[in-house]
Amino acid sequence: MTSTVLVAGATGDLGHRIVRELLTADPGISLRVLTRPGSGTADGMYADEERVAVHEAAYADHAALVAALSGADVVVSALSGARSVIVDAQRALLSAAVEAGVRRFIPSDYSADYRRITPGSNRNFDLRRDVAAELDAAPLRVTSVLNGAFTDMLTGQAPMILFRRRRVLFWSSPDQTLDFTTKDDVARVVALTALDDTAPRVIEVAGDSVTARDIAHTLTDLTGTPFSTQWAGTTGMLSGMARIGRRVSRDEDATFPAWQGMQYFVSMFSGEAELRHTDNDRYGTHRWTSVRDVLAAHLGGAPA
Ligand SMILES: NC(=O)c1ccc[n+]([C@@H]2O[C@H](COP(=O)([O-])OP(=O)(O)OC[C@H]3O[C@@H](n4cnc5c(N)ncnc54)[C@H](OP(=O)(O)O)[C@@H]3O)[C@@H](O)[C@H]2O)c1
Repeated sequence: MTSTVLVAGATGDLGHRIVRELLTADPGISLRVLTRPGSGTADGMYADEERVAVHEAAYADHAALVAALSGADVVVSALSGARSVIVDAQRALLSAAVEAGVRRFIPSDYSADYRRITPGSNRNFDLRRDVAAELDAAPLRVTSVLNGAFTDMLTGQAPMILFRRRRVLFWSSPDQTLDFTTKDDVARVVALTALDDTAPRVIEVAGDSVTARDIAHTLTDLTGTPFSTQWAGTTGMLSGMARIGRRVSRDEDATFPAWQGMQYFVSMFSGEAELRHTDNDRYGTHRWTSVRDVLAAHLGGAPA
C-alpha cells in the first residue's frame, strides 16, 4: 500500500499539477515535496495544504536527501534540465531512494518514446536513456510514463502551426502520426501511477494521436478558413540543422535550446519516437483533452 509519496520538482509546471492530482486522487495520502535550498517557492506554494510537507535538500547532499526520502514509498521525479539535472540530480535521487528503502521510482521522462531513437539524434532523449539504464539496474521498482509531446506546446513553444499564415508545417510526411497529451492529463496519469503498486516498467498514454494533415483539417474546421500543410524539409535536413545549431550555439546546458526543439520534431516526424503500446484505459475511462480541444481554446472557441 502506498501511503507516502515524495515529489521532487513539485514547484515546477508539471510537478505542481502532479501534487494537485495526488491530493485529489487519494484523500488519505501523505505528500512530501523535495525542493532545493534557496529555490524559494515551495513553502508559499504549499502553505495552505496541510497534507503536504516541504523538505529542503541539495542534490549534492546525500545525507540530507536520504533523510528527506526516508519513510517514502514512492519517489516521483518532475525535475527538468539538461545533463546536470536529468542524469546527475536524478542519479543522486535514485541513490538516496535506494538507501532510504524507497520501493518505487518514477523518473522525469514524460516524453515521446525515447527507447528506439537513433543515438545522438535527440539530446534530451539520450539523457533519459542513460538514466533508464541506471534505474533498470537499481534494486527498486521503476515506472516511466511516456506521453508524447505536451499538447499545450502546439499553441506556444512548438512552432509547428503558423496561425497567421494558416499553415501547418511537416517534415518528410504530413501523414506521420504524432502523439500528444496535455500537461493536466499527464499529471493525472503520473499521480495514478504513483498510487498503483502494480504499475509496469512503462506506461504509455496519448491524449490524442494526429497527423499534420489532421491538424490542418481541424484548424480549417474550427476557423472556417482553409489551413494547409506545408513541407518544411525532410527529417534528415532538420537533423542536420539541429546538429549545426548545437555546434555553433553555446547553450549545451540549456534545457530546451532551439536545436533541441528541432531534434524533438525529428524524433516525432521520423516515427522513431511514436508510442506503440498506449494503454489509455489503464486507470478507467477518462475524457482526454484532444488536440482539437486545445486549438479551440486557443482560438477562443468552445471545445467541440
Ligand atoms: N513531453 C513534452 O512535450 C514536455 C514538455 C515540457 C517538459 N517536459 C518534461 O516534463 C518534466 C517537467 O518539466 P517542467 O516543465 O514541469 O519543469 P520546470 O517547470 O522547469 O520545473 C522543474 C523543477 O525542477 C527543479 N529543478 C530545476 N533546476 C534544477 C536543478 N538544476 N537541479 C535540480 N532540480 C532542478 C525545480 O524544483 P525546485 O526549485 O523546487 O528544486 C523545478 O521546479 C521534465 O522531464 C521535462 O523535460 C516534457
